[in-house]
Amino acid sequence: MLLFREKIPADWLPKVLNNIPAILIDHAHLERKAATTAITLEKYRQLFPYVHELNAIAIEELQHFELVLQLLKTRGIPFGQPVKSPWISGLMQSVRQGVQFQAIDHLICCALVEGRSCEKFQILARELAGIDDELAAFYGSLVESEGNHYASYLIMARHIDEVETDRRLDWYLDLDAKLVRQGNPEPMLH
Ligand SMILES: [Fe+2]
Ligand SMILES: [Fe+2]
Repeated sequence: MLLFREKIPADWLPKVLNNIPAILIDHAHLERKAATTAITLEKYRQLFPYVHELNAIAIEELQHFELVLQLLKTRGIPFGQPVKSPWISGLMQSVRQGVQFQAIDHLICCALVEGRSCEKFQILARELAGIDDELAAFYGSLVESEGNHYASYLIMARHIDEVETDRRLDWYLDLDAKLVRQGNPEPMLH
């Protein structure tokens, strides 16, 4: 299902496993931003037919946000400041302006964030088993939901313009690969 052209860098997993508190704070903000983004997408008139579906995604993301906040609380980790992801910023900065293109680009960027989350949550579910079973189960429980969001956003983009979406997705997959290769020294999910 996932079409990525670059593997997650080898240093990502050890960095995550050595910085679980920072990762959980980052994850909380990621879910918060996913909820607000789903609502932001409702501004595009091409997405008016999907307003209920987008609300449902926003509610699900908000529930994920609450679950991460609960984990922070039980582990005694104070909620902290958000840190900017160069990968997410790099994707979002390339969203074109203009009525037709902006919605397609924005949806593709959201799909790639959801897709990479899905991919990384799968890795964490596997790698945390035996180390931190509670977290392993938690990440495992999010995989399907984020995978569905990835698919939903791509379906919405294709509904606006299938040819343009596929053309643009091809371009974005190259950008994703380039940004992934640039790496991120911070302990973050993305
Ligand atoms: Fe989520
Ligand atoms: Fe999601």
